[in-house]
Amino acid sequence: MKNIANDHFDTEKPHTKIKHRLFKSALDTSLSIANGINYSKKENKPYIYIDLFAGAGKFKDEQKGSPLIAMDSFAKYNDKTKRSFSNISMIVAEENTQNIKDLKKNINCERQLLSLDDLTCNICDGSWETHSSVLKTYIKSSQWGFIFVDPFALELSFNNLINLINESPYYKDILILINKSAQERVLGKIDDLDISKLCNYFNISENNLKRLFDFVKSKGGSNEVVIQHLIKRAISKLDKDYVINAGITRTRNGKLEDSNRFYLCLITSSIGVANSFLEKYAEELEDKTLNKNNMQLSLLSTSPITKYISLQEKIQNIIKKEDITLFELSKKMYNVFLSWKDSDGTEIPHRQALLSALNNLISDKKIIIINAKQSNKGCISKRTNKLLFQALNTKDDAKSIILGSYR
Ligand SMILES: C[S@@+](CC[C@H](N)C(=O)[O-])C[C@H]1O[C@@H](n2cnc3c(N)ncnc32)[C@H](O)[C@@H]1O
Repeated sequence: MKNIANDHFDTEKPHTKIKHRLFKSALDTSLSIANGINYSKKENKPYIYIDLFAGAGKFKDEQKGSPLIAMDSFAKYNDKTKRSFSNISMIVAEENTQNIKDLKKNINCERQLLSLDDLTCNICDGSWETHSSVLKTYIKSSQWGFIFVDPFALELSFNNLINLINESPYYKDILILINKSAQERVLGKIDDLDISKLCNYFNISENNLKRLFDFVKSKGGSNEVVIQHLIKRAISKLDKDYVINAGITRTRNGKLEDSNRFYLCLITSSIGVANSFLEKYAEELEDKTLNKNNMQLSLLSTSPITKYISLQEKIQNIIKKEDITLFELSKKMYNVFLSWKDSDGTEIPHRQALLSALNNLISDKKIIIINAKQSNKGCISKRTNKLLFQALNTKDDAKSIILGSYR
């Protein structure tokens, strides 16, 4: 397998920039929601950021890597009057000797530059697995948190990760970069030695993996289907509401390819974190489409009539089977594998898109709100009887609305 690690920290590649923008947006939302809830409950529970594959902190072109990007986000909470966390702590692990040296230097400089005097910072030297008992203690001691898992390819064991997170999963948001392309390559040579790495990654025996592979192939499925099945199987052990797998491409000859090479997998129980991740992803896809069309908007794909057709079809298919709360519907719509390659952003079910699609279906008399009078205040317009933005604000709001087919 090609050694991706050799030149990774030379310059930040365009697809890595996309990963970092999505990462920063998810972390910012996670911090802001936790801070808001602490404030409204008059609590000051601490926040923890954990970076298991931290890297060097900076690329040679001075662009920031995940630990430094995270520090930028923490700096907003420097002013104690604007934050309701008692403290924010950060624990990062890195196993490469040179990277660890650079990381320590870069974190110390950034800390001084941003005056992050009361940030608790623990840098773990060596593979994160060797520090798992310290990591577990940190995870247990903070209610709120964000865990970033960013390996190059197959150097992760989902089982070890889940053992770590399961100490206290509920209020932790988790973002994992899954190198689907590397995994598919291994499946392409199912009798090769690397297969044991894939089995370790997904905690599956070689026999069971081969059985799954043969089954999917006998139904005409691709290697991608096998990988998606393995991801779902691994994550089902975590009790979280939303698992969004956003496809990302790679950089080739300095340019973004139109392909799905990685999944950036967000695992969260927060409807707000899920929504904002989807919004940011749709924005990235719109940028991709604009760049492809030399910054010209395609009138066809962005007209309000065509915009949410595929979302409307999906919603109708779900609702025709049963009456459903907006919360359960959001879970079905958000737990997906989203494609970078085939999408222009209009099929991404973020809050505004989902509500527009639902309101279109209500206008077209395809679906109805069954319990408009009992729903939470501010979720449904009294004048138009349509869903308002508030309807997907919290899980409680989304649970208060029941949708059914028009009858
Ligand atoms: C893709 S890079 C991380 C990039 C970083 N998250 C960023 O955004 O800048 C992966 C890093 O994980 C490190 N690594 C690999 N296996 C590891 C392990 N088991 N524990 C800790 N670090 C590991 C590698 O040395 C490499 O620096």
